[in-house]
Amino acid sequence: MANDRESKPGHSRVDEATGTEFVGHEWDGIEELNTPLPRWWLWTFYATVAWSIVYVVLYPAWPLVNSATEGVLGWSSRGDLETRMAEAELQRQPIFERIAATDLGTLPADSELMRQAVAGGAAAFKQHCVQCHGAGAAGYEQYGYPNLNDDDWIWGGTLSEIEYTLIHGIRWDGSDATRMAYMPAFGEIFDKDQVDALANHVLSLSGKAESSAVGAELYAQNCAACHQANGEGDPVQGAPALNDAIWLYGGDIADVRTQIQAPRHGVMPGWQDRLDPVTIKMLAAYVHSRGGGQETPAAAEPGAEPSPEEVAVSAQAGDDGQS
Ligand code: HEC
Ligand code: HEC
Repeated sequence: MANDRESKPGHSRVDEATGTEFVGHEWDGIEELNTPLPRWWLWTFYATVAWSIVYVVLYPAWPLVNSATEGVLGWSSRGDLETRMAEAELQRQPIFERIAATDLGTLPADSELMRQAVAGGAAAFKQHCVQCHGAGAAGYEQYGYPNLNDDDWIWGGTLSEIEYTLIHGIRWDGSDATRMAYMPAFGEIFDKDQVDALANHVLSLSGKAESSAVGAELYAQNCAACHQANGEGDPVQGAPALNDAIWLYGGDIADVRTQIQAPRHGVMPGWQDRLDPVTIKMLAAYVHSRGGGQETPAAAEPGAEPSPEEVAVSAQAGDDGQS
């Protein structure tokens, strides 16, 4: 504690070289000078103190038990968010109005508006559809949630057909006009051997098994009315194709047998009560754009880009599906 002994309180000495006072501490011959803080630093410090006082007065600051002091400006992060959301909504408004005013069939002819609609639909899809159809719209085919990226359509793949499916749902009791098809439960009608023969015939339609005379006969009598003789399915009745390798409920013989005995009758909710018509339109545009969108039921060329002329022509021809 040698330096304590050296300090002389009340008596200030000045360092000759710098003209600065000593603090009075000394350690091994080295003494401390009382250099003042730089002015710029001091003023910055005072400014931050002043700013913090102004801030506390203007903005929410001190936490209280259930809230915080409000600040005289009345600003809140929630209010700020709401304002920004409202602004974003306003910016989208003209696009919404243009989409609302554009007939769905002619939407693809306006490629810029179509692009906006697809983007809006993609956002809505993330919110409302991914839980069943998957993030990439590829579905969960084993569980009856169809892939929306392919050109295999149960209920039709034109813009207006997709829109109809979205508005009214599938086997959805919320709409009188819902898409409706009930495959009978053939397990109550046929014995195990007959179901086996049928399942083999179904798989033979996509070259996966050998059919038999019994199987072909039973199929023609009981199934072809909905699924068609060659198994191409019928979008008007909502009977899925059986001759492609795309399955709603799996393509193993056991899966097919189960479906024949006890069909699942999958349900898709309709969206007319939950989403506005423009959002539904945008969703239809998005699903249609996923790769398998059809132009018209008859003239669909899978994968081909329809030219604006073609779209306009098909729209004039009254391509409004079943709606
Ligand atoms: C609760 C689950 C569920 C949700 C949510 C759902 N879907 Fe579906 N969706 C289904 C099922 C199940 C089917 C197949 C019904 C059948 O067997 O015909 C289906 C079928 C479809 C089809 C018809 C496909 C075809 O081949 O004809 C389209 C289009 C479709 N969904 C789009 C959407 C869109 C867009 C959304 C979001 C707004 C959505 N789905 C939300 C369950 C759902
Ligand atoms: C009234 C029309 C109708 C009749 C008749 C019918 N089906 Fe179906 N079938 C459907 C519908 C609709 C589905 C969609 C799934 C569902 O509703 O469970 C389906 C689905 C299927 C599937 C599942 C396809 C997949 O992608 O996983 C198989 C297999 C099938 N049917 C076989 C048959 C066989 C075999 C018969 C005759 C014994 C038959 N169906 C008769 C309407 C019908």
